[in-house]
Amino acid sequence: MAARSLSHASILRAPTPPAWVEDALANVPALLQDHANCEKKAASTALALMFAYPEDRALGAALSRLAREELRHFEQVIRALTALGVPFARQRPGRYAQQLRRAARSSDPGRKLDLLLTGALIEARSAERFALLAPLLPPPLARLYADLAGAEARHFVLYLEFARDAAPQDWQARLETLARQEAQLATEPDETLRFHSGPLRARS
Ligand SMILES: [Fe+2]
Ligand SMILES: [Fe+2]
Repeated sequence: MAARSLSHASILRAPTPPAWVEDALANVPALLQDHANCEKKAASTALALMFAYPEDRALGAALSRLAREELRHFEQVIRALTALGVPFARQRPGRYAQQLRRAARSSDPGRKLDLLLTGALIEARSAERFALLAPLLPPPLARLYADLAGAEARHFVLYLEFARDAAPQDWQARLETLARQEAQLATEPDETLRFHSGPLRARS
């Protein structure tokens, strides 16, 4: 199976529930604050991979470009926050990234593949949610989110291609395991609204 033929829907094991979209639209300032953090974290995750595997020059070059792009996304979200008058608020991290990281193996062999696959899943979920939200948001955000949906879809393919190359025999089975975990985290009722959370447990 060629990774380029995959769409985000084909690696995500469950679609985002409509209840999450409702929660997100009712909490746009909180969503944007977490979104800014996600872009910063996406750059930092790419840098961490570059430090962990310096011998993989192709990966390093691709992730250097990706990290710069994520920091530009961060700057775009900060501009949107400022334009909308959303004040800075420090947020607790949600469960998604933390629990997905826990599902990944912490040493090699296996760690590199799992980091690449979790990267692919996070980017795919981001692409799916940007595309879902774009038509429902007011104009400046609608345009930004439509652009980001395209960028994160490219990132998901990039991570998936490196995962496939890192472990040609194992990547599909491992993707299946991690994708099931990711789907639970993104769809089961959650305590806090975040860009990658499930829908809120207590419905207002
Ligand atoms: Fe991004
Ligand atoms: Fe990305």
